[in-house]
Amino acid sequence: MIEKKITTTFYQTNKSSLIKEENSLVDLAINSLKSAYAPYSGFMVGAAVLLDNGEIISGNNQENVAYPSGLCAERVAIYYAGAKFPNVKIKKIAISAVSKKFDFTDVISPCGSCRQAIAEYEVKQDKNIKILLHHPNDDIIIVNSVADLLPFMFKSKGLKNF
Ligand code: THU
Repeated sequence: MIEKKITTTFYQTNKSSLIKEENSLVDLAINSLKSAYAPYSGFMVGAAVLLDNGEIISGNNQENVAYPSGLCAERVAIYYAGAKFPNVKIKKIAISAVSKKFDFTDVISPCGSCRQAIAEYEVKQDKNIKILLHHPNDDIIIVNSVADLLPFMFKSKGLKNF
């Protein structure tokens, strides 16, 4: 048996050090979370997606009394981007969260299902999607690809039809 390792790379900075395009994208994620529908968790998340054509799509989490029927902000935004601009590549996604109910010290980090959803678009467009994670204290974590958040991801590449 051979031990193998996968490394991941991320960048830590703060909002004021971001380039203008990314600072504005984070602002849009922050703005979007204010419209989140999160009466059950009290955890408000916003996401803003920047496309190759310069369009920006934002979204927020939408909850449901039947809890699993709700959807995370990242998927609301990225699916809307896919629906509205099916042939335009996604460049970046910024995500932010606040909660009056929970104290959290780390930046928001997308759940496994959202990572898989972002991965689908990254594979589809054959171009990496940069992800910016924002904390209300303006800490920022950046990954250049969803692969850095989802190593060993499930991909259709390698699956063969009989
Ligand atoms: N949520 C998101 O919208 N994005 C994440 O990355 C993590 C969690 C939402 C789902 C649910 O509405 C609430 O936050 C609490 O889990």
